[in-house]
Amino acid sequence: MEALALERKEEQKRELKERILQLKKERNAIILAHYYQRDEIQEVADFRGDSFLLAQKAATTDAEVIVFCGVHFMGESAKILAPTKTVLIPDERAGCPMADMVNVDGLRALKKQHPNAKVVAYINTSADVKSETDICCTSANAIKVIESVDSDEIIWVPDKNLGDYVSKFTDKKMIIWEGYCNTHDMLTVKDVEEMRAQYPNAKFVVHPECRPEVVKLGDFVGSTTAIIKYCKESEHQEFIVGTEDGTGFQLRVDSPDKKFHFATKYLVCPNMKVNNLKKVVRCLETMQPQIYVPPHIADQARASLERMLLVK
Ligand code: 13P
Ligand code: SF4
Repeated sequence: MEALALERKEEQKRELKERILQLKKERNAIILAHYYQRDEIQEVADFRGDSFLLAQKAATTDAEVIVFCGVHFMGESAKILAPTKTVLIPDERAGCPMADMVNVDGLRALKKQHPNAKVVAYINTSADVKSETDICCTSANAIKVIESVDSDEIIWVPDKNLGDYVSKFTDKKMIIWEGYCNTHDMLTVKDVEEMRAQYPNAKFVVHPECRPEVVKLGDFVGSTTAIIKYCKESEHQEFIVGTEDGTGFQLRVDSPDKKFHFATKYLVCPNMKVNNLKKVVRCLETMQPQIYVPPHIADQARASLERMLLVK
């Protein structure tokens, strides 16, 4: 009975994937998926990436329609960078709690207190907040972005953990907002120590959205893409992974013979997981929900995102 149910599920998946292929052609659409998406979504994606690679891809694609499988701020960034395209998201409820931890009023108040500071915003922010900033960054380019800014004083929003990490690589004064990622912040020193005892030959690779005391334990610290690249190129065969569990998909694609252990079962972002194949089909069929960003907000936010894309 169980085998039958499994077979039926696989068949349904195949049917949904075929329908997606057909709809993609009809709509001239591209599917962009963040590395934290469910495996089934990453399997149908035209392009998989971290926040930076996906923003870059959205800015340069020829497709008329972008189906953005990630969370809301990522879809917004795609729309801002590609304003003439239709940007669909499979489920509007896929938000990012960290992005919601900073708002325009709070940021304006902080800017008033530090009139000489430039604002660097992690891409995990709403379009409204981006429109109040000087430049965006992702975890892949944060240090370079900070160094590129023409000021010795930086207001950093919203991730305090990433802010703490990057502050160690600059002499600039960092005024750090108190936000954090609910998922990465769950990982504790105890979790890592327990895993190390269980897998003594494994290297610990960690995302800088984790707590500073956890990041400190990393054999390698980097963005999602940097972690995947490091594991692929490393001579080591076994890793304890300190980032969201969807990353396992690309890790296994790139390094099929290596072993990956996620540092805790809690490293799952529920927001990233609300998307599924059925919802991808539905959004391509109905062309809803679409991302809309008011033009005056989009123009200001675009300047911040484009400045980031120019940083070498
Ligand atoms: P990156 O995609 O920059 O690695 O960021 C991780 C993340 O939490 C995205 O929401
Ligand atoms: Fe936001 Fe964290 Fe989920 Fe990324 S992993 S979308 S930062 S809550």
